[in-house]
Amino acid sequence: MAKPPLSMQPTGWFQVAWSAEVGVGDVHRMKYFDRELIAWRTSSGEIAIMDAYCEHLGAHLGYGGRVEGERLVCPFHGWEWSTEGRNLCIPYEKRPNPGRRIRSYPAVERNEGVYLWHDIDGRAPYFEVPDVFTGFGDGITEADYYPAYGQSTLHRQQLELHPQYVLENGVDFAHFEFVHKVPITPEFTRQDFAEPVSYVDFTITFGGDGAESIDEVTSGVNAINGGLGVAVTKSWGMIDNRTVSAVTPVDDSTCDVRFAVWIGREPGDDGDTQPRSANRVARAVIEQFEADIHIWQHQRYSDPPALARSEYEGFTALRTWAAQFYPETRRTAAHGHR
Ligand code: FES
Ligand SMILES: [Fe+2]
Repeated sequence: MAKPPLSMQPTGWFQVAWSAEVGVGDVHRMKYFDRELIAWRTSSGEIAIMDAYCEHLGAHLGYGGRVEGERLVCPFHGWEWSTEGRNLCIPYEKRPNPGRRIRSYPAVERNEGVYLWHDIDGRAPYFEVPDVFTGFGDGITEADYYPAYGQSTLHRQQLELHPQYVLENGVDFAHFEFVHKVPITPEFTRQDFAEPVSYVDFTITFGGDGAESIDEVTSGVNAINGGLGVAVTKSWGMIDNRTVSAVTPVDDSTCDVRFAVWIGREPGDDGDTQPRSANRVARAVIEQFEADIHIWQHQRYSDPPALARSEYEGFTALRTWAAQFYPETRRTAAHGHR
């Protein structure tokens, strides 16, 4: 186990909560990117993410801060703040203080999760969080799946790993037999790292289909990586499941890992609770992801790695792509964001 040598301040969208954890009127405390943060939800349902401390005298708004309509009221002296961190009211003055702003962050909700846009240079979002349902353009919607939160989600906190470790799975054909116990080495059919949102497709079988070589396999996974923070997958040719994995730096050496699995609904079932059979599949998918986590959380990042000849191209493409999100390499890289 070792502190990752890669930047823990990467640019991109990162999951910081589940939507269900921040109900209307809730002020949710959290720490990411080495900052104390809050996520709160207004009466109209809008989510806001900002630094946790009041700009007046520094009260932590996550301890006693109160949502009133579209405003957050500080528990210390009652100053009122907007979702963008602007001061709207000082209760004992005629006018608010327009000059002081609590730092706020672009926030979106997607697939039962809350995502924060992080960029240490303060640039606006320049790509979107991929949608696990609509992102693959196959006409599927959220309504076709059982909800994930609470029945097929995983949240592991403060592990010594890095978002890039997770994405390297998308070029690492050799680990599947050893970590995931697949009977045949999978084959990558697409590795497209041209843009901040990248694409990886592979053919894979978990056995039981009689396939004896990769050419006979009739199942696989398509993945979309939204920067380093979030990857969504769609399976085909096997029990219908979609997943989101999200890795978010907490401080200089640790990350939170979240994983969600959606199983396709049985025809005619519009309940929210997964049937036992769906839950079994979801558990199996989560166990596969946990097998990866077990490696990642004890791994030491190898740079330069001792790559086999057949691994060279994929890993080079992945690592070159990843560099655009790191403040240290962005300024000198030839392949930075344009
Ligand atoms: S510290 Fe928040 S109103 Fe005074
Ligand atoms: Fe893996």
